[in-house]
Amino acid sequence: MYDVTPDLVWVWQKLEAAVTGLLHQYGYQEIRFPLLEKTALFHSAIGEVTDVVEKEMFTFSDRKGVSISLRPEGTASTVRAVLENGLVYNEPQKLWYSGPMFRYEKPQKGRNRQFSQIGVEVFGYPGPEADAELLLMTHRLWQQLGIDNVRLELNTLGSADCRAAYRSVLIKYFEQHLDVLDEEAKNRLHSNPLRLLDAKNPAMQTVIKAAPSITDYLSDASKEHFARLCAILDACDVPYDINQQLVRGLDYYSHNVFEWITDELGAQGTLCAGGRYDALVEMQGGKPTAATGFAMGVDRLVELIVEKNIWQPPAQTDVYVVWDKQVGVDQVMAISEQLRSDIPGVSVMMHLTAASFKSQFKKADKAGARFTLILGPDEMAQQQISVKTMQDRNVPQQQLSYSDMVSFLKQQLSE
Ligand code: HAM
Repeated sequence: MYDVTPDLVWVWQKLEAAVTGLLHQYGYQEIRFPLLEKTALFHSAIGEVTDVVEKEMFTFSDRKGVSISLRPEGTASTVRAVLENGLVYNEPQKLWYSGPMFRYEKPQKGRNRQFSQIGVEVFGYPGPEADAELLLMTHRLWQQLGIDNVRLELNTLGSADCRAAYRSVLIKYFEQHLDVLDEEAKNRLHSNPLRLLDAKNPAMQTVIKAAPSITDYLSDASKEHFARLCAILDACDVPYDINQQLVRGLDYYSHNVFEWITDELGAQGTLCAGGRYDALVEMQGGKPTAATGFAMGVDRLVELIVEKNIWQPPAQTDVYVVWDKQVGVDQVMAISEQLRSDIPGVSVMMHLTAASFKSQFKKADKAGARFTLILGPDEMAQQQISVKTMQDRNVPQQQLSYSDMVSFLKQQLSE
């Protein structure tokens, strides 16, 4: 877990504003749910034989001995919340959420124990159009953010029936290669054989590559669902690779699954991932409701934007007020306040104790101020204020009346 210091907070804010603006454009609505849930929710929704449930949750007992966990992801909580609030009873829902998630993983670059996701969950649309919209939206987002070199990997896990047939074929296949499987793979062979397909152990890769493919066990309806998704992406010029080993680490998925991956962040390069989970709402006690969604890792996106210098920091301060102690702090504060009223949204900073002009100008530079106002005894005697344009030394310093100074700043700041 880590702190976000002020020099980086602007990247988080700009990113969050860009994503939430885009979600608004597509008609998605925000939902907020607690950081804590009953542990049983995650066990039943995410699956007992998953890394998250087996070894990554922050779980403890509350004062009455009820087992609760910090949320490791948002899909399970969203499903609980829409059911408890009757949101999916008779109408589709397009929802998003944002905030911290917690997983007790081995921390490394791009993998934190507290990390932030912006997630989207869509309920009530069984067709591939909903999955397509999610992918078009994320594709547009990368373009808006200036992130290139992200590739889309797609796969289909078929319906529950297809997966059941495929599961037994996979178990039989891997049983013939027990000598190659590591301990984790052997442990999962009977409980969650699909996960063996995305095992990272290099010694198992040849056997994994030669494993039977889900494609041969898909029903016609599942094939059609996937083909229609691919056709929409083709029509909208969104490139993708089909990766038959993409199975996802959480158990609730069926049909289309996907990951947006960059090679520029090392091993933890998945920026956004998700897929369809048509059975989960019913499993959690609701009536059958198709669902699909994704979550993007905000920490990883921030890291990419910072490492690749994709954005330049904004000027933090519009105006820095430099003042002489003979003028008196009361008057300086009154002028700064007046300026904040006269130019809505302007950022005005002033030194809160008397200091030399030299040190105040240094502070103004450090704050990235676009303009400094100089309030010295001479200026005050003439009821004038000196205005200096900080980022263009060729513009001469000028003395203006208060109202001319306001007009000047208004015009400059709107450019
Ligand atoms: P997930 O693949 O577990 O899916 O996580 C989604 C994204 O969250 C990852 O691709 C990654 O960017 C980020 N992420 C996950 N764990 C960490 C970590 N320890 N540190 C930093 N970033 C991390 C889900 O969570 C599903 N709930 C997504 C979903 C929504 N599927 C359908 N709807």
